Formats: sequence, C-alpha cells, structure tokens
Amino acid sequence: MSTEENVNVIIVSAALQGHINPTLRFARRLISRGVHVTIISTELARDRMLKHSVSKNTDSYFHNQEMHFEFFSDGLSLDFDREKDMKTSINSLFTIGSKNLSTLITNLTKHQNYSCIIADPFIYSAIYIAADLGIPSALLWMQPCALYSISYRYFYNIDSFPNLEDPNEKLQLPGLPLLEVRHLPSYLLPATPLHIRQVMIETTKAWDKVKWVFVISFYELEKETIESMNSLAPIYPIGPLVSEFLLGEKEQDAISMNMWNVDVSCLEWLDTRPSSSVIYISFGSIIVLSQKQVDNIANALKNSNKSFLWVIKPPEKGSEDDAAKLPQGFLEETKGKGMVVTWSYQEKVLMHPAVACFLTHCGWNSMLETVTAGVPVIAYPKWLDQPTNTKIIVEKFKNGVVMNYEEDGVASVEEIERCIEEVMEGPGAEEMRNNALELKDAARKALQEGGSSDKNINQFVNDLKNVST
Ligand code: UDX
Repeated sequence: MSTEENVNVIIVSAALQGHINPTLRFARRLISRGVHVTIISTELARDRMLKHSVSKNTDSYFHNQEMHFEFFSDGLSLDFDREKDMKTSINSLFTIGSKNLSTLITNLTKHQNYSCIIADPFIYSAIYIAADLGIPSALLWMQPCALYSISYRYFYNIDSFPNLEDPNEKLQLPGLPLLEVRHLPSYLLPATPLHIRQVMIETTKAWDKVKWVFVISFYELEKETIESMNSLAPIYPIGPLVSEFLLGEKEQDAISMNMWNVDVSCLEWLDTRPSSSVIYISFGSIIVLSQKQVDNIANALKNSNKSFLWVIKPPEKGSEDDAAKLPQGFLEETKGKGMVVTWSYQEKVLMHPAVACFLTHCGWNSMLETVTAGVPVIAYPKWLDQPTNTKIIVEKFKNGVVMNYEEDGVASVEEIERCIEEVMEGPGAEEMRNNALELKDAARKALQEGGSSDKNINQFVNDLKNVST
C-alpha cells in the first residue's frame, strides 16, 4: 500500500516533439507536487534525446531524482524513415510496439505500485494495458478541447454531423465558430489516408475507459467547449504547458528534449534587434514545406524588408535531395536583416521582446506558447488539428490574421506580404496586439497558484493520493 510520499505515475508519450514537450512539462508540474513520474517513450525518442540534449551522461539523464525514463522498441530500426512510410510505422507501433510496451509496464509493476497510467492519444494501447493491470488511466490530449469535443461527438454519434464528403456542409458546436468541412481536423476527412484516420478511430474506442481526460489548454481559453463536455466526458484543462521557468516561477528546466540541435545564437541575434521588429517563422516538427512555399515565403520576406527569424528543420536522412532549398542568393541579400536556423528554443524566442509576430502552422503547442508570450500570429495551417486551431484562435480571439492559400497549400507572395503588413502595421494591428496581451494575461493567471489549471492539477494529485491509500 502506498503512502502519500510515494504516489507513482507513468506517462506514455509518442516520440514526437509536439507530444514530448507537453509530457515533460506536465511531468514537472506533478513532480513539484510530490508525485514520482516515470516517462515511457520509444527507443527513437531515447536516441534523439541523447543526440540533441545538453547532458550526455545517460544514467544521470534518464534516471535522475526528478524523472525516470523507460523506453520500448516500436519494432523498427532507428534509421527507418517513419515520416516517409507512416503506414508501416503506425502498424508496427500498434502491433509489436504495443506488445513491447505491455511487457515493459508489466515488469515495472512487479517492483512498484502505480496510481495512474497517463496515455498519449497515439499510444492508446497504454489505456488497455492499464485496464488489464487494474490501474486507473488518464488521457493527455495534445490538442485543444475543441478537437476532443469534435472527435468525441463524431465517433460516439452524439450530434448529427454533416456529410464530410461535401465541402459546402457546415458544423455548429458549442463554443466554436461555424466550421466548414475544410476547417475540421483532417483525420476525420475521407480524403485522409485510412491508416491515419484509423489511429483516431482506435484511440477514441479507448476513451470510455479512462478516468481523467487532461487537455493542455486552459479553461478561460475554451470555457464554453469545456463546459459543453461536462455531461459527456469531463475534461480537465492543465495548461498552457509552457516551461515554468520562463514565467519566472522555477529554476531552469533540467530536462528537455529536442529532436534537432537548438541554435542558441538566434537568441543573441534577437538581442540586437529593436523591440517588436522580427517576424518569427516556424512550422513545427512535422510539416515539410514544398519548394514553391519556401520560394514564396522567401520572396515575401525580401519584399517586406522586415527582420525575420526562420526555422527550417533539416531533412530526414535519405530525403536530402528532395528537400526544398532557399532561393539562390537569399541569405546574402537578407544578411543582417534575417536569420535562418535549423531549430530554435521556440518558447524563449517567442518571449523575446524583439519578436513582433509569429508566422505559424498553428500546432497547438505553438499556439499556446504564442498565447502565453502575447505574440500575434499569421496563421498558415496545413492539416491535423491546425485548420480548426486557426479558427479558434485567430477568428475567435482575434489575435492575428489567416493566410489564404490554394489547394496545394501554396500562399502567393502577395498574400504573405499582405498578412505581414496587416499584423505588423495595418489598421487592425494594435487591436490584435491588445487581444494577444489579454490572452497572455489569462494564460498566466490559469497557471498561477489558485488559477484554473493549477487547481485541476492539485485536484488530480489529491485524487491520486486517495487512490493510493
Ligand atoms: C503536432 C501537430 O502537428 C499539432 O498540430 C498538434 O497540435 C500537436 O502535435 P507539431 O506539428 O510539431 O505537433 O506542432 P506543435 O504542436 O506546435 O509543436 C511543436 C513544438 O516544437 C513546440 O513545443 C515548439 O516550441 C517546438 N519547437 C518548434 C521548438 O522548440 N523549436 C523550433 O524551432 C520549432
């Protein structure tokens, strides 16, 4: 029987930057409340953490007083290009990977009692493993509550949904703007390959087994949507999950994981730029831009004559030849004015006073980070939850502009210039900045002692202590 001092939880995370980041940050919040956390991910995450992290001492890194890490194999070799062949990688993770995960967790439980297993939506097998072992489980939802609400209502047949084959159909759900089919998450749409939609279909089947659903959002941001879920499947917002030390609440984070080498020189470069002058550009950890997209962004930046910091992550091994290149002469022509890096410390960049706006794909971590920093956005979404995130943030909270683009995802040079102009100097720019600052204030209040997210995390820890005694 556990005592209050040894409440142990397992958090299982997919080896994706957008999932590992909130996992580590949630873990830190639990640890600061006396919970022991074991983080489990795949061998791929282990490999990447070691390659790109500050500490190279494996033992102290993976088994320190704060967190304990365990890894399982997804059945594929480390150099298998998972992004290129998603079908094989998903299939292997859900078959061989699930078996390996089950063996690992079962072995861990032989030496330790666990009060909860918190699952990544992409590794839903953790929920079944928890049920088999009689351990309560939770889901850590890495997208807005809105996306949980849409997916839940869709897969559990709660509301009648429009015909998703018809692009003219519309959907109205509590707390959300009217959504056209193209604004819905791509994993619901028939045009998305079945193996990607299948991940969502399978994960939702496990949702009625979890005791807690955590979202990385915060209550004030999605109040109506969160309340509308109360009678269906209560949601506990615990975000925004940004690094606490950036808010001045904690010492430097000891643990971080970057899949690419962080170029810290861009922070020094930002120090040399005037306040609110730099456009920060990043498309997260998954999107790879086409040559036309890169050309148009580069030309728009050149024409706008604004300072910029642009993250272009390096191509995966074997994809170097297909990777889009910057137009010839671009770096020389923009020298001093702009900087291109392979990976940044994004949270720090967004909080830097030199940053004026964020040209983003609207991944939910990026959205929450920009909200917490109070930086307006230029929304250039591609797929997954990003089109819906754009509608929620930009159209509901009016802290930025939406880029228009063709079906191939390419926005014209003029359109990119229009967005830059509008967000930085247009007649609505000041209002967008003010709205962004209001969101920043609300985000920080949610995290502070007694704030909505702080209370939810405390409540969870209390629940765990009750489970354990
Ligand atoms: C994925 C999905 O695409 C996203 O839509 C979903 O909401 C979460 O999972 P990703 O595309 O990587 O994530 O985007 P995002 O959610 O924004 O996460 C990217 C993370 O990488 C952020 O935490 C960001 O701070 C970090 N990052 C990005 C860096 O640290 N440095 C960079 O240079 C770029």
